[in-house]
Amino acid sequence: MDYFLRKRGKLYCESIYLGELADKYGTPLYVYSLKTLVRHFKVASRAFGKIRHSIFYSVKANSNLTLLGVIAELGGGCDIVSLGEYLTARKAGVKRIIFSGVGKKRQEIEMVLKNGLDFFGVESENELNVIEEVAIRLNKPAPISLRINPDIDPGTHKYIATGLKKEKFGIPIGQAVDIYKEISNRKYLKAVGISMHLGSQIESVSPFVEGLLKLKQIFCKLSEQNIFLKHIDLGGGWAVPFAKGQHLPEPADYVREMVPYLKGLEAEVIVEPGRSLIGNAGVLVTKITYLKKGYRKIYAIVDAGMNDFIRSALYGKEHRIEPTILKKGKTLNVDVVGPVCESSDTFAKNVELTPIKEGDLLCLFTAGAYGFSMSSNYNSRLKTAEVLVAGDNDFLIRERETYKDLWRKQKLIKTRDIL
Ligand code: LLP
Repeated sequence: MDYFLRKRGKLYCESIYLGELADKYGTPLYVYSLKTLVRHFKVASRAFGKIRHSIFYSVKANSNLTLLGVIAELGGGCDIVSLGEYLTARKAGVKRIIFSGVGKKRQEIEMVLKNGLDFFGVESENELNVIEEVAIRLNKPAPISLRINPDIDPGTHKYIATGLKKEKFGIPIGQAVDIYKEISNRKYLKAVGISMHLGSQIESVSPFVEGLLKLKQIFCKLSEQNIFLKHIDLGGGWAVPFAKGQHLPEPADYVREMVPYLKGLEAEVIVEPGRSLIGNAGVLVTKITYLKKGYRKIYAIVDAGMNDFIRSALYGKEHRIEPTILKKGKTLNVDVVGPVCESSDTFAKNVELTPIKEGDLLCLFTAGAYGFSMSSNYNSRLKTAEVLVAGDNDFLIRERETYKDLWRKQKLIKTRDIL
């Protein structure tokens, strides 16, 4: 459910025609719908009913300050994986923080512990030792939650499956109880929770239920041994529909199906959704630079590239693409490609589009998550602008980069003398 709708063939974000935003801010352009983001958050939260819970939005999906500010306003916390994400979330006013990630550096651990967090999602015993050392030095006990690898197949793309035995993520489930017991003897480590994260774009609820049952088992075993945890963290990974009419659980459905297994649990339930909150709240608007006839096909060469949106090149994921204005007439079969010098800079192959010409706008859907946040300056291209729409208001929430930005951190050293 989102608020990108057509009126008389023209594609609107809430009450604003996307073409109007492209004229005002240029292309390529990320456009987000505030109403969609808020709705996704609220329906997920409401689905918990009376169950004590918190939503920690996963910042990696989209770390725009304004969007994080919206999450904060809604009462959400943030799941972060770097000091950069921590500082960004704090700057946006986010109060509650979980620090996840397999490779937290000592300096990051120190800064985050010093400035406060809900807990570290701990990935190994060695990491636990580093956290303890830092906690002792700061004389500040560290709240921790072990991220368990429950060895569950989430049935998703292999690059984004994380809860299987063969992955680098999480602590083997058989070691969990012993590590918690060990922690209970350490003054500067406070076990407050147990966590998992199975992967991303998990299209059915059953892996979550399976994982939850495994975590609950450990939770109960620990209670029997007088180790009481306050949180049970089920991670993120809820899927979003990429195509019209694709029926997948909505954020609220994931919650609803887990609720029966959460009842009676004396812990706050935590979830860390990213994509399901912001994915369908954002689109990428791009302009056709050329229509090019190749040997066998026609290419719509657009002004967005894999540097702006890498999901298609990296995971082979074709997102829905449509013209911002649907015209009547013979459809055209095209490959939508970017200008970057790589064959993988292809957004979609053999797309049947209503009549288009050079200069027309295309909209790539479900671009709110892992879109801008994975963008780069490859080919010395400027990072795009981002706009937030709220009803009939639009706000520039990130300026387009300028050429000067490309060189801002570089030094031009004249090597003539040392050659
Ligand atoms: N929590 C943890 C510990 C995570 O590692 C992730 C995502 C999330 C929560 C949020 O997952 P979500 O609800 O967004 O699925 N770049 C890939 C996705 C990578 C996800 C990494 N971890 C993509 O574009 O599909």
